Amino acid sequence: MSNQFQFIYRTFASQDALSLADQTLVSHALMAMQQAYAPYSKFKVGASVLLQSGQIVQGNNQENIAYPSGLCAERVALFYAGAQFPLDPVLKICVVAEGDLMPQGALLSPCGSCRQVMLESEARQAQPIEVLLVQRSGQIIVLDSVQNLLPFGFSK
Ligand code: THU
Repeated sequence: MSNQFQFIYRTFASQDALSLADQTLVSHALMAMQQAYAPYSKFKVGASVLLQSGQIVQGNNQENIAYPSGLCAERVALFYAGAQFPLDPVLKICVVAEGDLMPQGALLSPCGSCRQVMLESEARQAQPIEVLLVQRSGQIIVLDSVQNLLPFGFSK
């Protein structure tokens, strides 16, 4: 028997096409990106997390001269949210990046480790997390759940 996994995602041509609340979330991710510590890859990533309380938490990539000791923006933001507001469910996460590491036009989407952490955030709160991926073209890709980014993920 062959099976298929499909999911719907939405695209928005630019930030202006988003709701005002989502525009605010994107601006927080952009602010976070500016403050990234990425002297080695020169690839700056910003993440913003909207909590159910309305609070927005920011994160960015934090690199280290011992390369594997650094951490991605998404995990910095989600772990901060988990540390400070463990009972406040995550409604959305927005990610944006800049730098020459990726060729222009390449899809910007979280790495596997971040997807795994996002999946656990979703599982522990039993509520989907919307994912907004800001592309360098200005286009925004919106997915309704982390499940779509990591089908067949490792979870309970
Ligand atoms: N990075 C992120 O912050 N998020 C991802 O999903 C992938 C990669 C960071 C890690 C490193 O600081 C830089 O981007 C280059 O890999």
